Order: sequence, then structure tokens, then C-alpha cells
Amino acid sequence: MAKVKLTSKVDSEILVVGLAISNKKLQIESGSSQIDSASLLATLNAMGATGKADEVIKLPGKNTKLVVFTGLGEINSAFDPENLRRAAGAAARDLNGNKSATFSLPHKSVVELAAIAEGAALGAYTFTEFLGSSKQDQKEPLSQVSVISKFADTAQAKAAAKRAEIIAEQTYLVRDLINTPPSHLTPDSFSQQLKKLSTKYGVKAEIFNDASLKKGGYGGIIGVGQGSANPPRLLHVSYSPAKAKKRYAFVGKGITFDTGGLALKPANGMEAMKSDMSGAAAVIAAVFAIAQLKLPIAIDGWAPLAENMVSDNATRPSDVITIYGGKTVEVLNPDAEGRLVLADALVKAAEVGKKAGGLDGIIDVATLTGAQVVALGTRTSAVMTNNDEFSNQFLKAAEIAGESFWPMPLPVELRASLDSPVADLANIGDRMGGMLVAGIFLKEFIDPQTPWLHLDIAGPAYNEKSAHGYTPVGGTGIALRSLVQLAELASSQS
Ligand code: BES
Ligand code: MN
Ligand code: ZN
Repeated sequence: MAKVKLTSKVDSEILVVGLAISNKKLQIESGSSQIDSASLLATLNAMGATGKADEVIKLPGKNTKLVVFTGLGEINSAFDPENLRRAAGAAARDLNGNKSATFSLPHKSVVELAAIAEGAALGAYTFTEFLGSSKQDQKEPLSQVSVISKFADTAQAKAAAKRAEIIAEQTYLVRDLINTPPSHLTPDSFSQQLKKLSTKYGVKAEIFNDASLKKGGYGGIIGVGQGSANPPRLLHVSYSPAKAKKRYAFVGKGITFDTGGLALKPANGMEAMKSDMSGAAAVIAAVFAIAQLKLPIAIDGWAPLAENMVSDNATRPSDVITIYGGKTVEVLNPDAEGRLVLADALVKAAEVGKKAGGLDGIIDVATLTGAQVVALGTRTSAVMTNNDEFSNQFLKAAEIAGESFWPMPLPVELRASLDSPVADLANIGDRMGGMLVAGIFLKEFIDPQTPWLHLDIAGPAYNEKSAHGYTPVGGTGIALRSLVQLAELASSQS
């Protein structure tokens, strides 16, 4: 885990600075540290440097072993927090094999400083747990990032550095869980591992096993998980500070592997379905981060966990299951499984929230539909809601956090496509607008009085292309930062 340090002068052998474009010319942006700009600029121009985002160039320095130039793009965006976060992350990613680096990037406020610290820490990540004989050839990521700032001595800056470490620690956890193959991550091991971690963060945890789920009437989780030799679980973590200003429930889809069940997915590309538990990982890690930050917001995190497999015991198309609380669902397509496990967990989360005095909001996070990826691509997630005010608050949090979310509608006319001749509803409807149909399905399990958000992160959760900014290949950790930021916004409201 990369430690984050604040400093007022260069304290390592590697100095990271910015390279921007101003009036079509390269411009070095080294924050508050002085470097030999004229000669370095001449070299950069001769090399054909562009200063664009994700360009990282290393040159020998005068006072340091290396000066690393990270692209900031056009000068007018050089101070945008997300731009800085990405530039710091791209440089950190390119420095594997080194112990520490000092980041001197331009910033005028602690908000921008915080983004630099966060980006650097988020970039310093690798996943090598499953390397065998090639492990020794691997270069370790940075274990310390220093950030040069004139604000270094302020309490706000110190808090920002601590926060960056927490965000990085929990993002690494989400990424590690996503990257862990389903041979090594089952509903049981996921729940055990996170229950153990709960103790460390002072968060309560309980695990419902398959027997108690069956007995309790969780037909969605049981129905999806019954085809697997690795039985399903429901993990509940709870952070309840004294004098909480608000109480939220976060519910994350936890399919440790999605074969599609009897609606078997094609083998080509199925490997990416190890990421189908990204929502579960994000919500539980968000609860941990909120607890570490000691925010005055109570959060229940719920992770319905199952492996969607093919077997003689798998749910058949036309089977009818009963969701927790009594609604029945005709399973027409066993590959639309996420909504089934979420339905159980959403109803349970609302019930437990009600007993605790009522929920101010309930948020589900899921790699729910391929349609999300078709609509918004691989870097923008969707938000659907029954409450525009809550959605706008979340979108504001996501913007601050530097995560791209976009509002999507839940058109009422699509509801009829979920009608079933034998059950209360079917698990699939119109193919067109498939992301919205899934949202409308979930809405059936939400109390209309409770503000609700449905986040479909199918594309952004798992990066199958190349690394960029602070985002590695594989699990990205998307949604965690927005959830934490939402809790922070709620904390600062009266
Ligand atoms: N886990 C998938 C959705 C998914 C697709 C996530 C691509 C990430 C990348 C989900 O369980 C699924 O299979 N959804 C189906 C629903 C359909 C059968 C209504 C889909 O989107 O095709
Ligand atoms: Mn599926
Ligand atoms: Zn799925």
C-alpha cells in the first residue's frame, strides 16, 4: 500500500512534474519546485513530447536521478482535479520498480492537492498474487508517494493525505477482489475475508449461509446459487456511529462468476465475468472507508453472493422463485441473475433500515447489463432513481470524486414488458432499453417513499483494454469514491 507523505521539498531520487500545452507550445508545470526548465524543454521538444494526458516521459535530472514529465493536456485544464488525479496516477503507474517518488504538480488549493495525492496512490497498484515462477521478475509499485505543496503544514492538507491513503487502501481491496479468479473467490471466501476485515475497521458483520437463506425465504439468492457447488451467502456489514446524521444502505451485486447459467454465455469473453461481484466489493469497501474516516453517517452494506453455474440443479427457464418478502418471479432467463439476488437484498436492507429508524437512502451497485455498456461505453456508469434530488446529490459527489456517472430514465411504459402469465413478474422484458428494464425490475422491490439509486457499472468496473491515468487493467474500483464522497457531503450538511 502506497503511503502518502506531504513535503515542502524534493525528498526522493525521482521528481514528477507536469507537462502542459499552452498556445500550442509545451510548458513545464513543476508546481512550487524549481527545475532547469529551459534545457529540459529543449530536450522534450526535440523528443517530440506532446504534453497530452497519459504521456509519461523520463529524463535524467540535475538534482534527482530522474525527472518524470506527466501530461496535463491544455493548460486551462491543468488545474482540474480529475486531470491532476489522472496525471499523477499515470506517472505512478510508470514508476513500478522504484520505492518512492516526489510529485510536484501545479495546484492552487487543497482540493487539487488532494486529487494529486489520491491519483498517485491509486496509480501505485499491481496485482501479482497469482504469479508463480514469474513473480520474481515483477517490479513492485511505489511504496511511498510524496507530494510537494505549500499547504503541506496545514491541517486540511494532512487530512487530505490521510484520506488519500484510505481511498487507495479500499480501492486496492476492491480491485484485488475483482482480479481474484473464481477458483479462489467463492461466495463463502468473499464473505469470510470481508468479515475478518470488518473487525479491523470496527465494523459489525454477519454472514447468512445457504441454510439460513433457504430458511429465511431468500428465493433470489438461493435460486441463482443453487446450480453451484459453492453455495451462496449474504454478507451484511454495519457501521453505526453515535449521533449519525443520516442512515444509508448500500447493496452490491456479488456474482463471483456469471456463466449465464442454463442461458450459457459464449466461452469467448466469459472470463470477464469474474468481475460480476464488483458492486459487492465496492459497497463493502465503501463502508470500511466511511468507518475509517469516522463520518457521522450510519451505513449498512449488503452483498448478496452467488455463483451462477450450470448443473442438474440450476434454475431452469420457466422456474418460479419467491423473493424475500413474498413477490414471485418467473425466471425466463437465468442470465438475468443479478436483479434476482439484488431483489432479496434490497427488501432485506429496507426491512433492517426501517427497524433502525428508517433509511435516508438506499443505493444498489451492480454490473447488471450489457446494455449499459452499449449505451454509455466502458468509462461512464449509469444512475437510475425514484428521487431526482438524491440522484443530483450523488451526481455532484461523483463529479467531485472524478467518477463519470450519467442519469438514465426509468420509463413507466417498459414495466408491462416484465409481466408474466404465471408470476408477479418475469425477470426479463423488452430487449431494447435493457438497462432501463433491469432498473424497472429492481424498482418493484423498493419502497416508493425511500430515495433509491440504481448504479449500473457493467462497463466501468473492469478494464479489459489498456491502463490509463490511475486506472489499471482489470478491476478498477469504480463507485467506491462516489459513495464515500456522497457520505462526506451528507456529513457536512446540517
Ligand atoms: N453480468 C451480466 C452483465 C454484464 C455484461 C456485465 C457485460 C459486464 C459486462 C448480467 O448478469 C447479464 O448477463 N445480463 C444480461 C441480461 C439479459 C439476459 C436480460 C445481459 O445484459 O445480456
Ligand atoms: Mn448474467
Ligand atoms: Zn451477471
